[in-house]
Amino acid sequence: MKKHLTAILALALFGAFTMTAQASPQADLDKFRSYFAKRFPNTPFRDFINGVYSIDAASREQWEEIEEFPPYELNIEKGKTLFAKPFANGKTYASCFENNGVGIAHRYPFFDEKSGKIITLEASINVCRKSNGEKPLKYKKGAMADISAYMHYSSRGNLVNVQVPNDPRAIKAYNEGKAQFYAKRGQLNMACADCHVYNAGNKIRADLLSPALGHTTHFPVYRSKWGGIGTLHRRYGGCNKQVRSKPYKAQGPEYTALEYFHSYMSNGLESNGPGARK
Ligand code: HEC
Repeated sequence: MKKHLTAILALALFGAFTMTAQASPQADLDKFRSYFAKRFPNTPFRDFINGVYSIDAASREQWEEIEEFPPYELNIEKGKTLFAKPFANGKTYASCFENNGVGIAHRYPFFDEKSGKIITLEASINVCRKSNGEKPLKYKKGAMADISAYMHYSSRGNLVNVQVPNDPRAIKAYNEGKAQFYAKRGQLNMACADCHVYNAGNKIRADLLSPALGHTTHFPVYRSKWGGIGTLHRRYGGCNKQVRSKPYKAQGPEYTALEYFHSYMSNGLESNGPGARK
């Protein structure tokens, strides 16, 4: 275990990325995609939506069996029921979303010109609740993850197409997310990119590291380790803890910016949430 970690740390140092502050999001995206295309020449672009299973035939077989009776099915059902259940004022979630909330989850996160903020799906779910006089839900699991799972399920097959418009506030959020992704942190002094870019396909302890390309397409995710379903920000927190760094708050500005950058990097891929993972 120690050996692996040392090797990875050494690689991480070698792989140190020089970030050019001026690089445009589109240029970043082109570079990101071509990096993974070269690193995993046997994985077709559209297959990166499947995380580690897109690069590892052995675990893919087990996963395909799991997907025959997906563990998140119950969460989709629960989410559907919650979504349709009227608030105390008689209205439902449908009243808050375009197309009554069906087939729209893949459009998140997006930059909202009016507020100048990045809007995630989970934050919108709580905005909807609050504007209807309901208490907000917790962001990492439970009802929030169930509703998100149902909404994402209805969005499956649509392509991710996150926009970074030429507005200084959008660009700022994008750059903050990018900085989060490449920032070394924690006692292990490792960035997201160290594990999920430079060491994607390598092992850390018993785990094969997934490529960051396509990371966000299949959330929320049912994880056996969690014994349940969790949101993307729950996963971010877990990955921060792995390097012994204190996680940020789910739906706080840090993870929201990170989600914006991270999702933009999956543009052109199919939305396929919810997913199942170890
Ligand atoms: C020390 C290595 C390490 C670092 C650093 C790290 N992760 Fe992870 N991450 C893992 C491991 C191990 C897993 C589980 C195996 C896999 O899917 O890669 C994982 C899984 C994930 C997943 C789920 C993938 C899927 O297909 O469901 C996401 C998303 C993710 N990490 C994002 C991040 C982000 C964003 C950061 C930076 C805040 C980060 N990780 C930092 C090790 C790391």
